[in-house]
Amino acid sequence: METIRMGVVGLGGIAHIVHIPGIQGTKEGTLTAVCDIDREKLEKASQEYQIDKKYCFTSYTDMMDSGCIDAVSICTPNNLHVPVALAAMERNMAFACEKPISATLSDAERLLTAYEKNPIPAMVCFSYRYKAAARYARDLVQSGALGKIRHVYAQYFQAWGEKAPLIWRFVKSITGSGALGDLGCHILDLVRFITGLDFKSVTGQHGRFINERPLPDGKGMGISDVDDYANVMALLDGGIPATFQITRFAYGRGNYQRVEIYGEKGAIVYNLEDEDTLQMYQQGCKRKSEAFQEVSVPEKYKADQMQSFMDLILNKSDGLTASVYDGVYISRLMEKILESGESGKTIAL
Ligand SMILES: NC(=O)c1ccc[n+]([C@@H]2O[C@H](COP(=O)([O-])OP(=O)(O)OC[C@H]3O[C@@H](n4cnc5c(N)ncnc54)[C@H](O)[C@@H]3O)[C@@H](O)[C@H]2O)c1
Repeated sequence: METIRMGVVGLGGIAHIVHIPGIQGTKEGTLTAVCDIDREKLEKASQEYQIDKKYCFTSYTDMMDSGCIDAVSICTPNNLHVPVALAAMERNMAFACEKPISATLSDAERLLTAYEKNPIPAMVCFSYRYKAAARYARDLVQSGALGKIRHVYAQYFQAWGEKAPLIWRFVKSITGSGALGDLGCHILDLVRFITGLDFKSVTGQHGRFINERPLPDGKGMGISDVDDYANVMALLDGGIPATFQITRFAYGRGNYQRVEIYGEKGAIVYNLEDEDTLQMYQQGCKRKSEAFQEVSVPEKYKADQMQSFMDLILNKSDGLTASVYDGVYISRLMEKILESGESGKTIAL
């Protein structure tokens, strides 16, 4: 069996929680090298994953040029996604890039231009595409089980915004946008993934509750200059209305993600908290009430993000991974949502 030697750039939360265990859980992948500018994190990773010191790097280009890896996971803050991806592309090295694809639209478009000249295997980690319930919902909706779609309502709520220090996620030059870029990119992609529909227009509203936050080193305060929440009213292909609510200020909601789709023949509710089931209503079902019924998600919809990356490299992708095109699409969409929020006008896409 072919072995794919992976290097991970950025050893923070997502690398440890998703990418590294994900790589280790694939059939072909092996974690060969790690990179972070923080030497303590490198040392810790070296011990935790038994990576030889010679494969621990503080420079991602040194890691790529060492000859010890075939592909790379990009797990840095958002403003570094494109520089690392471009470096990988220059070396014909496949990459799995965290979301959002970049901190700015111009960076995303720069990446797209380079990618079109050299379309190596590349994916953007819109991780919820790998949830079985989302894939099942996609099949149901796109096979016409609900008939023509009438409404889409989508929410993505987290709770940590009130008390967080000024980590990079609150600094526009590093992160791009706030709740919209962090959570919104997922839910916008998920609705597009499930329905198969593109966006025709958006009316956005966004705002910030907290302008100053404690610096992470405890030495004073710093400015937060990103959105804390965003709401979007959109029209999808065919004039289908969709609304989105996105916030990091929803106490009681750890990672709450819900999509409700109502069609002419029925409805489904996807809720991230119930990974193995969907709530479904089908017109004509013989039952006493109008209540939703729980339906189990068939086994065949189970998927894994990092295995999907390996499959992409090995040219056996199921075609459901998010591409560079998808990543750039969502970046453009978010730019228009912010523009609409600033101008108060509906923007056509
Ligand atoms: N797909 C998801 O659901 C999901 C969830 C969480 C985070 N993310 C994304 O993952 C990325 C990282 O988020 P995180 O929460 O792990 O952040 P983090 O702050 O915990 O980790 C980022 C790491 O990158 C390192 N780094 C910074 N500059 C570097 C450089 N030049 N070279 C190498 N390493 C460098 C930092 O030292 C840090 O260890 C972000 O883009 C974020 O949006 C995605």
